[in-house]
Amino acid sequence: MTGKRILLGITGGIAAYKIAYLIRILKSKGADVKCVMTPASSDFISPLVVSTLSENPVAIEFWNKGSGEWNNHVELALWADLFLIAPATANTISKMASGACDNLLLATYFSLKCKTIIAPAMDLDMYQHPTLLRNLHQLIADGVQVIPATSGKLASGLEGQGRMEEPERIADYLNEAIYSNIISERKLLITAGPTYEKIDPVRYIGNFSSGKMGFELAEKALLMGYQVTLISGPVNLELVHPLLKRIDVLSARDLMDCVEENWSSQDVGIFAAAVADYRPIEMASQKIKKKSADFELKLIRNPDVLEWAAKNKKKGQYVMGFALETNNSSEYALSKLNDKNLDAIVMNSMENEGTTFQSDWNKITILNRDGTSEYFDKKPKSQVALDILNFIEKVC
Ligand code: CTP
Repeated sequence: MTGKRILLGITGGIAAYKIAYLIRILKSKGADVKCVMTPASSDFISPLVVSTLSENPVAIEFWNKGSGEWNNHVELALWADLFLIAPATANTISKMASGACDNLLLATYFSLKCKTIIAPAMDLDMYQHPTLLRNLHQLIADGVQVIPATSGKLASGLEGQGRMEEPERIADYLNEAIYSNIISERKLLITAGPTYEKIDPVRYIGNFSSGKMGFELAEKALLMGYQVTLISGPVNLELVHPLLKRIDVLSARDLMDCVEENWSSQDVGIFAAAVADYRPIEMASQKIKKKSADFELKLIRNPDVLEWAAKNKKKGQYVMGFALETNNSSEYALSKLNDKNLDAIVMNSMENEGTTFQSDWNKITILNRDGTSEYFDKKPKSQVALDILNFIEKVC
């Protein structure tokens, strides 16, 4: 980010306290940072902290009563290579969407020529409110990029999605936004997480998939402007975004039904779900009681969702699968690529310690239909998601 001019807009939310760290990170990466604050935000972080860390005066009002000088919003706006509003409150988002311009930060937004990115922060019900989603839709249509809020403990004491993304991750987003101009408007279907195959009302066959890779892909794709349909098995992850259609499923057959219903309208499909290959031939209607020393469970094959999507691929659609292997990874992944007739397959191996299931890290190789492959280092899944999406943007 050396020499990049980042204009940071701060609005009045509790998450404003994290902005001190964000400024520190941006400065340490060599960025030049100037800040514009709404008057309400100074209740949450002192302008003195902001100006000291950014090493620049802070603009809050149109007119500096002390010096008698006015803050020129046009000059500020034209100075910036990138405008970030963090935290972005529901109030500021609403004003940006409607055109209200009653403070210096908004006047600066309306004078900008560069890209604007917002990192919303609010309570969970506000974040899911139809009005907020409508306003976010409008901003996205206006070219604003949205860094989705994350899940966790909120200032209200409630838990859910609404926390501003952490400063380190915001800095990563900015880095990406500065150096990549990829804005896709395509439709992307992602399958994620495990499937549960019921044995009886209280038991199931499942696997250790956390769904993190699929959700990271969805989050990054949303930021790039994709319209995402995320079909997920049971996971403990939240994601709300105006461009996101999320469908929660339980079993492989539910997943299949949803993919069948949604696939024809998509441009790209990334099949990251860890789908159970078999299910019990029948589900017991009552809890199974232990009787004998051993117990046999008869299983039957589940539909292969990815294979179905590749078989029913229309011209122009792109299908990417995942292959998680414990051994002979390249050989197995290659045969899946060919047998299922895929455009590409993301191979990851349980042999790479600290990657795959439950981990925040992954180490992948993408095998391409034309026989070429691309290797990537071990990285956080958020970065791996970007590598995968950038790869897709490159090849199709
Ligand atoms: N997949 C799918 N439906 C299934 C099984 C797998 O859509 N019933 C998809 C996965 O989402 C993944 C790819 O197929 O993209 C490979 O899954 P994996 O479980 O690694 O391989 P399988 O094809 O099931 O083969 P095996 O279990 O024999 O390794």
